[in-house]
Amino acid sequence: MAVGARWWSRVVPVLAAATLLLAAGCGGGGSSSASDVPALHGTQLQDAGLVEGRKVWAANCTRCHGVNGQGGIGPKLAGAVVGDFPDISDEIALVSNGKGIMPAWKNDLAPAQIRDVVRYTREVL
Ligand code: HEC
Repeated sequence: MAVGARWWSRVVPVLAAATLLLAAGCGGGGSSSASDVPALHGTQLQDAGLVEGRKVWAANCTRCHGVNGQGGIGPKLAGAVVGDFPDISDEIALVSNGKGIMPAWKNDLAPAQIRDVVRYTREVL
């Protein structure tokens, strides 16, 4: 029994590391699954708007702004958007209407979805 426990304690971390490496390797292109993007915590889990915003983010935004909003083709959003847009309606307007290569989302997403994903960028990323 003691030998078995020692054997597992050595193998499990190696398997966990390999799984993480595989996940990182596959996360590169295309849209992300909801499990890749930053999770909700505590009261956020009960907030239907943030739950929807997280889905909208994973499906539409990560290919340019990065899974964590760290930036890529588009600028870093994590920790930046509240400073850049003190008034949430200005960020909603930019996401709705687009700017340069930032697409306009008002024809593809409902107004509530745009508000939800904007809240996710401000409250979760
Ligand atoms: C095709 C790439 C692309 C996609 C997809 C994309 N963005 Fe952007 N985004 C950009 C670029 C590029 C900018 C910079 C626009 C500029 O200032 O010229 C930008 C800017 C922004 C800004 C303003 C950032 C700031 O602080 O000035 C926000 C907010 C934003 N995007 C949110 C989103 C959201 C939310 C989604 C998903 C619904 C999204 N973007 C999808 C490329 C993209």
